[in-house]
Amino acid sequence: MQRFAEKVALVTAAAQGIGAAVARRIVAEGGAVVVTDLQQDKLDELVAELGSDQALAVKLDVTSREEIDAAVGAAVERFGRLDVLVNNAGACIINSRPEDTLPEDWHRQLDLTLVSAAQCIQSALPHLLESRGNVVTISSVNGLAAFGNTEYSAAKAGQVAMTQNFAARFGSRGVRFNVVAPGTIRTPNWDNQPGALERLGKLYPLRRVGEPEDIAAAVAYLASDDAAWVTGLTLPIEGGVLLGAAALNLGVTD
Ligand SMILES: NC(=O)c1ccc[n+]([C@@H]2O[C@H](COP(=O)([O-])OP(=O)(O)OC[C@H]3O[C@@H](n4cnc5c(N)ncnc54)[C@H](O)[C@@H]3O)[C@@H](O)[C@H]2O)c1
Repeated sequence: MQRFAEKVALVTAAAQGIGAAVARRIVAEGGAVVVTDLQQDKLDELVAELGSDQALAVKLDVTSREEIDAAVGAAVERFGRLDVLVNNAGACIINSRPEDTLPEDWHRQLDLTLVSAAQCIQSALPHLLESRGNVVTISSVNGLAAFGNTEYSAAKAGQVAMTQNFAARFGSRGVRFNVVAPGTIRTPNWDNQPGALERLGKLYPLRRVGEPEDIAAAVAYLASDDAAWVTGLTLPIEGGVLLGAAALNLGVTD
């Protein structure tokens, strides 16, 4: 499939994990990609792998609007257009109990995960209106059900509401906005919790955690013309964990 031939995508937090898998998938399907992250070395390695004709690395802290505008500008300068924004940056950065979390920590969590995505959309929008492009934001099952991590979950739920409202507002002008909500995915995010992925995988109806490629496939669908009539959607890619009782092993199993 060459669904991204002649198309240009910008992916945030693309040095590793889900973002890197999305970048690989877009290039594999014929697109050009601007990979952005804090980790310049890893971005450079990824561009070397993908080929500098099809990939450009730009160092970007998504909490800086100035850096976002510079990255979007670099993408358009290099490839002449922008068709897809993948808002992948975000992380759970709060350790306190929710009953104790300080306002400044709430702000840090929302800035990294929700406000950053809004800022990327604002910056990319003029180019997406021109290309009749689209945005895919990586939320989480934490935004859809109560799995813990209150502040992170609120930010992830906020991404869903934000996406629905942008979708309603810009549909008539040809720009689509969608969300992928992953369950647990095997990425470096889990490196400091040995054994966690194996333990969690057993709780999933499909009896494994997800791989970054599982998410990249869903992003590629939503970002491509295959989803030309899809906007405002949140697509959970989660091995069945939202089935609830089954996820807790209370469901009927053989
Ligand atoms: N891994 C999971 O189990 C999982 C599950 C659901 C949702 N998600 C979501 O998927 C997205 C990607 O997660 P992952 O596990 O692939 O990530 P990861 O932990 O493997 O990588 C995160 C990347 O974000 C970059 N980063 C951190 N702060 C940044 C900033 N301020 N600006 C730009 N880049 C920054 C890091 O350098 C790193 O390369 C996140 O939004 C995460 O919340 C992940």
